[in-house]
Amino acid sequence: MKLSKLANNIAISPILPFAAALNAKKAAGETVYNLTIGDFDPSIYPIPEQLTAQSIKAYEAGETNYPGAVGMPMLRQGVADLLNRTCGLNYGADDVQISCGSRPLIYAAYKVIVDAGDKVVYPVPSWNNDHYCQLTEAQVVEIETDASTDFMPTAEQITPHLKGATLLALCSPQNPTGTVFAREQLKQICDAVVAENKRRSPDEKALYVMFDQVYWLLTFGSTQFYHPLKQCPAIEPYAIFVDGLSKSLAGTGIRIGWGTAPKVLLNKMQALLAHTGSWAPRPEQVAAGHFLQNATDVDQYLKQFRGQLESRLDAFYKGIIDLKTKGFPVDAIAPQAAIYLSVNIDLKGKKTAEGIILDSSDAVHEHLLNEAGIGVLPFSWFGAKSHGDWFRLSVGTCQQSEIPLVLHALEQSMAKLH
Ligand SMILES: Cc1ncc(COP(=O)(O)O)c(C=O)c1O
Repeated sequence: MKLSKLANNIAISPILPFAAALNAKKAAGETVYNLTIGDFDPSIYPIPEQLTAQSIKAYEAGETNYPGAVGMPMLRQGVADLLNRTCGLNYGADDVQISCGSRPLIYAAYKVIVDAGDKVVYPVPSWNNDHYCQLTEAQVVEIETDASTDFMPTAEQITPHLKGATLLALCSPQNPTGTVFAREQLKQICDAVVAENKRRSPDEKALYVMFDQVYWLLTFGSTQFYHPLKQCPAIEPYAIFVDGLSKSLAGTGIRIGWGTAPKVLLNKMQALLAHTGSWAPRPEQVAAGHFLQNATDVDQYLKQFRGQLESRLDAFYKGIIDLKTKGFPVDAIAPQAAIYLSVNIDLKGKKTAEGIILDSSDAVHEHLLNEAGIGVLPFSWFGAKSHGDWFRLSVGTCQQSEIPLVLHALEQSMAKLH
């Protein structure tokens, strides 16, 4: 059957089938530690109870018709309140666009900025920019990062690629690395975008920068999230911010995202989102609007949620560093944010008891799964070409009690190699 060129070439992420394969192994009785997914087990991390109660109330109150293409006023206000009180910004409800999760906003941002053949710059490893580039037929410029900058791109790496680019796509806190921009780096990157735009003539397309910030409320210890607008107010005419409650309130299934952008862009994104009907469900919007406007409830929820995530990430980090101290070829970046730990497991070239040499990162990945029952995701699945021995470890479905078992299984599986 003949379909569109897009349909013929569209790629799906390998992550979901891999996670499904792990669950099938588990269902078949195998011991599997599924540390792959960017989702939450609601029995470990429930959404705020007030959000559940308000959703039920909204259904009972008949909040079941179209919510309007821009989103419900109370949610737009709730988002503006959250951003203003937490980041010191000055948004009004009208500055906020609501959608069914943050993905449609990312897609809309790409779609209203990028023409086929336009240059889009983003770091790797990073989440899903390859897919959005495919959907917009963009010319891809990937910037390979490494552990020396916690896998965050620097202004020095980015700046040479900005000439002629249409979009720079950034994410902090970043998926898959769980790391954030340092303040000065962020400022330098924003300054470079502003300088590039100043250099362009009025009839050239501008260079926009999209900041995906869906994990910004989940930072740990001394790590701070810096909002780009506070570091470089001049970035405002060129910046799109994408956010939502999927991660920060453990509500991946609620499907509420929001974005802010210069009005001219936001209006176009709104038209696109209206045509695709990408509205968040109205009862959930009403409930989330109530919840976000209540600073005490939000803060209380985040405190306990962050605590749960941090204690798991810390336990994994300490365990990996203990293994490193014992002489195993592993390492990790100390937890900074999100639900991910960057873990280095450098087993390439080692030989199994059966005499098989682990000659590729895929072989290492398989060894971890088959010998230790550990499912983690290689950075190569997020576009990294040269860091096959780094993995994303997610604690989104992980019980604290499981952690010593995972570390023990990892140690045993490595001890068998030589
Ligand atoms: C960086 C990043 N942005 C956006 C999303 C999508 O979020 P949503 O569920 O709100 O569409 C994800 C989900 O994994 C993500 O990791």
